[in-house]
Amino acid sequence: MADSERLPVHVGIIMDGNGRWAKQRLRPRSYGHDAGMKRVMKLATHARERGIKYLTLYTLSTENLNRPQEELEGIYNLFRRYFGEYASKLAKDNIKVRIIGDISVLPPDVQEKMLQACSHKADNPDLTLIFAINYSSRAEIVRAANMAVERGGKVTEESFSRLLYTGDLPDPDLIIRTGREVRLSNFLLWQAAYAELYFTDILFPDFNNAAFDKALKDFSLRDRRYGKI
Ligand code: IPE
Ligand code: IPE
Ligand code: MG
Repeated sequence: MADSERLPVHVGIIMDGNGRWAKQRLRPRSYGHDAGMKRVMKLATHARERGIKYLTLYTLSTENLNRPQEELEGIYNLFRRYFGEYASKLAKDNIKVRIIGDISVLPPDVQEKMLQACSHKADNPDLTLIFAINYSSRAEIVRAANMAVERGGKVTEESFSRLLYTGDLPDPDLIIRTGREVRLSNFLLWQAAYAELYFTDILFPDFNNAAFDKALKDFSLRDRRYGKI
């Protein structure tokens, strides 16, 4: 099979290393988050050009909400800017924005900008760009379990999957983690059952289009056996 045929449909990225990237430059952590968001915009356009249909970005974990308020305020300001101004640029590129996670705990104006960004119509988007915000995979699973209990009756893997935030999305084929750590940190635990995992030392603000392509190339060479021989 040619490499071009072995393209992941759905890629997830654990965007880690913003703080260390800033520290290397003797700048505040917010400088790293800013650079990270700039990188997101570039990667979204690039992933679309590469023919990726779904890109899920681990943007803020539920555990991250325990960070100092000052850092969180900086991140919320970035959300205000990007989900406000830049969302229409994404829409123009036929990129559909979605959010998974519980955004109800965020400042109301931030929530509003996020909902606006998600409301841009795209019937047949080239790329669906999914931001995981206040996302916890365990919380998502428990939420789905409670919905299943309320509905009653037996659940199947398929029916349960549909109750997750990602219910209408295919499972990720490839999960990339930047920034040196080799863990999933509560990201898409159910959905990643058969994902190929790719870890790189590159800190997220340095994870450029060429680095993304390298991960795609690595994926294209993997042998996905799904238990078979
Ligand atoms: C990832 O970068 C972005 C968020 C978790 C919001 P970090 O902020 O975790 O960066 P490091 O790991 O401290 O370098
Ligand atoms: C994971 O990064 C969360 C995001 C990238 C949004 P962290 O930096 O929070 O992960 P841990 O705590 O080091 O595992
Ligand atoms: Mg980190």
